[in-house]
Amino acid sequence: PKSPEIPGYTYGAASHSPVSLAELEELKASVMFTNRDAELLRRAGQLLDGQVEKVLDVWYGFVAGQPHLVAHFSRPDGPPIAEYLEAVRARFGQWIRDTCTRPYDQEWLDYQNEIALRHTPEHKNETDQVGSTPVVPLRHLIALTGPITTTIRPFLAKREESAEQVEAMMEAWLKAVLLQVALWSRPYTRDGQW
Ligand code: HEM
Repeated sequence: PKSPEIPGYTYGAASHSPVSLAELEELKASVMFTNRDAELLRRAGQLLDGQVEKVLDVWYGFVAGQPHLVAHFSRPDGPPIAEYLEAVRARFGQWIRDTCTRPYDQEWLDYQNEIALRHTPEHKNETDQVGSTPVVPLRHLIALTGPITTTIRPFLAKREESAEQVEAMMEAWLKAVLLQVALWSRPYTRDGQW
């Protein structure tokens, strides 16, 4: 599905990121993200196309199985909010495509800022008008880099015979996720310490 059909997906309409393009370039250098990684991600995007729902099944299964994670899709002391899970799932699927195919430019940087804020009290729950927890703790955001990366391998391997090529795409994916989680950490940190 393309952007306008996804409720709450505001790519291209997000407010200006406080992070500069120069800072983004430095961060890309820190994770060793190069043009080759961008190419590998485009290839990964082609391989993942058509498997996105299955990837989401795995990630949602992982979150659903852990009370301390699913709590952030629930009302305090309540059951998971089905509409919330579903709405975020659609945007999460688009995020996989965006991570693989979008240029990491000003528009992308602006939406990175919006995704970050949606995990914090500034914007969490706002998009889907729900009464869930006010914040996803930063420690879990960082920790999920592991499963978000590890679980992608079989989906790439299913469509790519060369183990070497799979490894290269895995590295590119890891760099892309680390880059984003580093960007998303900004609103959690003290002024001057990000
Ligand atoms: C929203 C990715 C960690 C809970 C989202 C969205 C994406 C995303 C793409 C939708 C953004 C949009 O609205 O367009 C990720 C990634 C993570 C991560 C890549 C780790 C590497 C976590 C963790 C939790 C979590 C650990 C805890 C359960 C949520 C919730 C929302 C959300 C509740 C909806 C926020 C809202 O109210 O708008 N995440 N996330 N995320 N994520 Fe995460």
